[in-house]
Amino acid sequence: MAESAPRLLVLVSLVAALAMATGPAAAAHAGGRSRLIHLHLYMHDITGGPGQTAVQVVKGPGPAHPAMPGYHFGDTTVIDDALTDGPSASSSRLVGRAQGTYMLASLTEPVLAVSMTVALTAGAYNGSAVVIVGRDDVSAGVRELAVVGGTGAFRRATGHVLWRTARMESRDHMVLELDVYATVPAASPAPPPRAGVARQVA
Ligand SMILES: *[C@@H]1O[C@H](CO)[C@@H](O)[C@H](O)[C@H]1NC(C)=O
Repeated sequence: MAESAPRLLVLVSLVAALAMATGPAAAAHAGGRSRLIHLHLYMHDITGGPGQTAVQVVKGPGPAHPAMPGYHFGDTTVIDDALTDGPSASSSRLVGRAQGTYMLASLTEPVLAVSMTVALTAGAYNGSAVVIVGRDDVSAGVRELAVVGGTGAFRRATGHVLWRTARMESRDHMVLELDVYATVPAASPAPPPRAGVARQVA
């Protein structure tokens, strides 16, 4: 696990970046080139027991949901889920947190409306964040959500996320695998300066 750790966040897809720089997508960006950043992350959604990171904060008034027994339309969970570079919560490296909500937002289907920020705390993008919004049909093998923005290295990001259930560690611990594809302007700034640096500039 240790040798494979650095691969992850440093895995700015260079091949893809070159393709973007020379392809039509590059020209489409006003005034310049763009760069594709690929992140491969595992998200640990722990809904109960020790180490809980996901808490239901709204319980829909009912009736019982037809596709998700025990749940109700409108059920909303707030999350602060750990993100790791491998599927194991214990032996993989912690690289950030997924903070936000998901809400059961279909009357008939097992569909969650997800809204979250991926805040990275390690690797090449430490201090930067990606904002993800979308529809998570939990019955589908692969779900696609949208990258709608970001901060730091992800300022003005657009793109998509492929989202899969990797495995169930336990009844309460679901591991999700996320492939984030974010396109940012080539001249995207470095992560925001720290307070000391900002004073120096001012
Ligand atoms: C991430 O950045 C913070 C703030 O600069 C720093 O304190 C921390 O050590 C960094 N973490 C890693 C794993 O590089």
